[in-house]
Amino acid sequence: MNILIIGSGAREHAFAWKIFNSKQNVNLFMTNPTPGAVKIAKALSLDFNNFLEIKASIIKNNIQLILVGPEIPLINGIYDFIKNDSEISYIDVIGPSKNGAQLEGSKEFAKQFMSRHNIPTASYKSFDKSSIDDAILFLKNNTPPYVLKADGPAAGKGVIIVDNVDEAIKNLNEMLIDSKFGDSSNKVVIEEFLSGIEMSCFVLFDGINYKILPYAKDYKRIGESDTGLNTGGMGSISPVNFLDENLKNKIKTQIIEPTVNGLIKDNIDYVGFIFIGLINVDGHAKVIEYNVRMGDPETQVVLPRIKNDFVDILISCANQTLDQIDLEFDNDYYINVVLASNGYPEKYDKGLEISGLEDVNDSIVFHAGTALKNNKIVTNGGRVLSVVSSCKYMKDALEKSYSNIEKINFDGKVFRKDIGFDL
Ligand code: AMP
Ligand code: GLY
Repeated sequence: MNILIIGSGAREHAFAWKIFNSKQNVNLFMTNPTPGAVKIAKALSLDFNNFLEIKASIIKNNIQLILVGPEIPLINGIYDFIKNDSEISYIDVIGPSKNGAQLEGSKEFAKQFMSRHNIPTASYKSFDKSSIDDAILFLKNNTPPYVLKADGPAAGKGVIIVDNVDEAIKNLNEMLIDSKFGDSSNKVVIEEFLSGIEMSCFVLFDGINYKILPYAKDYKRIGESDTGLNTGGMGSISPVNFLDENLKNKIKTQIIEPTVNGLIKDNIDYVGFIFIGLINVDGHAKVIEYNVRMGDPETQVVLPRIKNDFVDILISCANQTLDQIDLEFDNDYYINVVLASNGYPEKYDKGLEISGLEDVNDSIVFHAGTALKNNKIVTNGGRVLSVVSSCKYMKDALEKSYSNIEKINFDGKVFRKDIGFDL
């Protein structure tokens, strides 16, 4: 079977690794793989937002199944493009339709979906340029902290949380009037602030049946003890030890089931991953956001815990027979420490040589931002590598990653030394 993974980060490297370890006979392709992923997937040099280019390549390489890693091609309608073209409509796509992808592509769409299906989330109101005076009044009548969200995709930067009302109004103006996030901030959702510990829930949905994947926790801030700027994620852990059966049951009945049933009821074509960002507010889980893909850096700890053959899972998802699969998970702790470039998430250098990768022992290293230069592996992004380890005890798994991190070096290597500090 010929499978194409769209995307080239550490999440997609983890997908490739899982597919590579399948017993099925797979020919694996990947768009612009890193030097790490290219060892297990054939490189297709493709712009994943150029659908005509993708079409030509999938015909040429006889691709039968496409797994879409990042959200942007889904929000742009890659699923619909493939399904509406009779030459390639037979191809299985793991990823939702453009309509389904609005769960991530529009905060307002997601909020309306949750309110229609009674899914617990922060209360909200949305505003555009024409209602900016109402928005200002709404902020003045509320209490801090103020949560402002650009409606559209903003590469994880579209959420602003401030304590001061004047600052909130300044940000509101920048978003609605000065197009701070381009068209993505033509609308702004103002939301109730929720306080609690966050966790990531992953569901695989075949349009009829669903499976809950292992829960994980992501460390989003650049600084230790969750301080400093938000990043794409500096580390992750699975399982999440404060999640007891009682809370898991509540999440299942109050959030997961209403979500998949809502998709069915609303006639939304959806085959793929649903990532539900949750916050535990005094024992009650509420939805912070939906993503229509797997999380990064969570995938790097979620996938290794799945004992089943991953290609079997993808095929039964495409065939709408997920109900026939019994998922089995490894109960050990999996932890991921991300190595980033100094300066990230702001300005940073690229092209710095990485040494020591061959000395890593008993951890898996997934590549995020790496490239080949003069036959040497160099840094090529803000987040560079994910160092993943497992053990029965979290502390021992952490020790493995941190001791391997000592062996990997590049100028300006930064990482959080406190992954798991709150568990
Ligand atoms: P999002 O892009 O929606 O995931 O938001 C980014 C981050 O902002 C989340 O991971 C939360 O830490 C925070 N956040 C978003 N919405 C809220 C909220 N209503 N209350 C508190 N924190 C929030
Ligand atoms: N880990 C958060 C995300 O993938 O958006």
